[in-house]
Amino acid sequence: MALLEIKDLHVALNDGTEIVRGIDLIVRPGEVHAIMGPNGSGKSTLAYALMGHPSYEISGGDVLLDGESLLPLGADERAQKGLFLAFQYPYAVPGVTVSSFLRSAMNALRKARAGGTDDPIPIPEFRKDLTAAMEHLKVPRELLGRYLNDGFSGGEKKRIEILQMALLRPQIAVLDETDSGLDIDALKTIAGGISDLVGPEMGAIVITHYQRILNYIHPDFVHVFAAGRFVAEGDAELAKKLESEGYDAYLPEGIPGDG
Ligand SMILES: Nc1ncnc2c1ncn2[C@@H]1O[C@H](COP(=O)(O)OP(=O)(O)O)[C@@H](O)[C@H]1O
Ligand SMILES: [Mg+2]
Repeated sequence: MALLEIKDLHVALNDGTEIVRGIDLIVRPGEVHAIMGPNGSGKSTLAYALMGHPSYEISGGDVLLDGESLLPLGADERAQKGLFLAFQYPYAVPGVTVSSFLRSAMNALRKARAGGTDDPIPIPEFRKDLTAAMEHLKVPRELLGRYLNDGFSGGEKKRIEILQMALLRPQIAVLDETDSGLDIDALKTIAGGISDLVGPEMGAIVITHYQRILNYIHPDFVHVFAAGRFVAEGDAELAKKLESEGYDAYLPEGIPGDG
């Protein structure tokens, strides 16, 4: 079923500065919600808070998955429940190859789903799933043996994020500026890969500054996010309007938009 409900969510930095200032959102299976807003409006803060990043404090409201609050859970437990975040700036992990990272991530999920008992994916099955996903997302094989994100280009990092998503098959995917750093061919491939995964099994929140990724992932809803709040909501047409008119009309007076 996988219904994500965000209720009057407030998120503060560790110094108490409130960045997200009351967000309500419901994401159902098969729905794509685009969150669009200027740089610095708090989009990544919202994404990190949903995933349970310790640098961000929930100062009000709740986040529920299938009626159960995620707030008491750590990031790993949220992932086990079916939440996935593709980072705007993926971390490098020198010493851990892409291949072993992906297998560990899959095995951690399988273990949690088996009630805490190890249930590692058989290697032939892992190779088969991995090869299929890599061909679909056009991920070069040579990346598998390299250390995760270590010296990767922006586009390579984004491909690995989505490859991971394709293998983990989350119920709710939060994609933070997955379009940034991609050339147009990579954008088409990756956005197409994301679109293929959206359906009865997965809903998505697509966070973006630019409309162009939404040409390849059709949003059911577009939410304009400025200074920590949704200030307008609509359908795909709203995204096109933003592309031509910018965000200025939605900014509170005195807060200049840089996009
Ligand atoms: N870990 C952090 N430490 C200090 N300031 C932060 C941190 N995370 C976010 N901020 C601040 O919060 C605001 C919103 O940032 P962010 O959520 O990254 O916006 P967006 O993703 O919309 O560009 C910015 O002013 C940013 O500097
Ligand atoms: Mg951001």
